[in-house]
Amino acid sequence: MVDDTALTALLGRHSLGPKHLVEPGPDDAALALMLQAARRAPDHLSLQPGRWVRVQGLARERLADLFEQAARAAGKDAAAAALDADRARRAPLTLALVARIDLGHPQVPAHEQWMAVGGALAQLMTAAHLLGYAGKMLSGYKARHPLVQAAFCAPGETLVGWVTLGTAARAPAARPGPDALPGALTDW
Ligand SMILES: Cc1cc2nc3c(=O)[nH]c(=O)nc-3n(C[C@H](O)[C@H](O)[C@H](O)COP(=O)(O)O)c2cc1C
Repeated sequence: MVDDTALTALLGRHSLGPKHLVEPGPDDAALALMLQAARRAPDHLSLQPGRWVRVQGLARERLADLFEQAARAAGKDAAAAALDADRARRAPLTLALVARIDLGHPQVPAHEQWMAVGGALAQLMTAAHLLGYAGKMLSGYKARHPLVQAAFCAPGETLVGWVTLGTAARAPAARPGPDALPGALTDW
């Protein structure tokens, strides 16, 4: 028996940027379910090549400071850096996604581990959507900046970016449906 409700919700997932997110963000119980869903992503040998770092409440101010420093170090002026800092404050909950890829693994090459990281991200975001929350995965120059990488990562890890999460203040813009990508499936 097909669960039409879950499938309809799945097909309706869209991203919504932090400027359209308001309180409340996912609480601890919702977050635990989202992390469980992330763990259900296909993951060769269960290496768990991704981990999450929660930024919420007062920690958002520290992230804002970091964004401001990174912006100034990247040559942005004070006004632009302040805008970047403000982005860190907007989302009720931010989850940094850190990849820990074992480049020398004898059985699971790096590309398979990266796919597992992506799968976990998709599962987490879908679970958030099914629980009634909205959000968006973001990266950009800030995620790649050495100051920001160092603040989130141990040696050998890579900060992929942030999932910003909260309650939608407006409906996300509808995007093309799942049948809109010609060439996504061919016969061999
Ligand atoms: C790893 C990763 C990083 C991303 N970084 C950004 C970003 O910095 N800015 C952005 O606008 N979208 C970024 N995106 C894309 C959005 O998260 C989103 O998937 C895209 O806007 C499509 O929207 P949809 O999820 O509603 O289809 C990123 C996606 C991934 C998977």
